[in-house]
Amino acid sequence: MNIGSIIKKLTSFFLYCIRFYVSKLQLLIPHPKLRSWVFYMLGAKIGTKVRIEDISVANQAHWGFDKLEIGDYSVLTHEARLDLTGDIKIGKKTIIAGSIFTHQDSGSQLFESTTVSRFPRKVAPVIIGDNVYVAAAAIILCDVTIGDNAVVAAGSVVTNDVPADTLVAGAPAKIKKQLN
Ligand SMILES: CC(C)(COP(=O)(O)OP(=O)(O)OC[C@H]1O[C@@H](n2cnc3c(N)ncnc32)[C@H](O)[C@@H]1OP(=O)(O)O)[C@@H](O)C(=O)NCCC(=O)NCCS
Repeated sequence: MNIGSIIKKLTSFFLYCIRFYVSKLQLLIPHPKLRSWVFYMLGAKIGTKVRIEDISVANQAHWGFDKLEIGDYSVLTHEARLDLTGDIKIGKKTIIAGSIFTHQDSGSQLFESTTVSRFPRKVAPVIIGDNVYVAAAAIILCDVTIGDNAVVAAGSVVTNDVPADTLVAGAPAKIKKQLN
């Protein structure tokens, strides 16, 4: 092993440690508005009066949160889980209640396998509109847009775009009713 590859491995280890500790230490911040400010200082675009409860974040680029955008008055409640591999954009006055936002990686960074080639890494934005309610334990896959005023019922798995003013539920989430 040459000196170049040792330095590369050490740098990657160091960056991994920074990401790990930043994602854990934010949990020690005692107030949702203070945590929003810290996310802002770490590069997220955060509107006014945003509340971020004790959520978990993964795969933020280096130590920054620049892939995350949250509009005015929106709330991320306890145990929401954000995978910041790709962009996550949340509109205004939206409630995210303990839901999971994720991207797809069946192990491409770690090994080659039949499953990895059948289900390659997929990173694409998740866009949530204004006045949306994403209820508890919903999972939002990447490359999904949820329209304004939509509701995602508890436990749904959202695999496709959700039109504005609709309630979707189930796995995969289907339109259950029109809201206007
Ligand atoms: C979406 C929700 C708010 C219900 O809204 P609602 O307007 O009262 O909806 P309805 O009861 O009229 O249900 C409409 C349809 O969706 C279905 N549905 C509602 N919630 C569902 C769910 N979580 N999973 C599967 N189907 C669901 C209903 O069975 C009904 O289907 P049908 O028309 O085939 O009978 C509620 O189901 C929910 O998810 N609440 C969130 C609870 C939560 O997460 N709390 C913690 C965070 S604040």
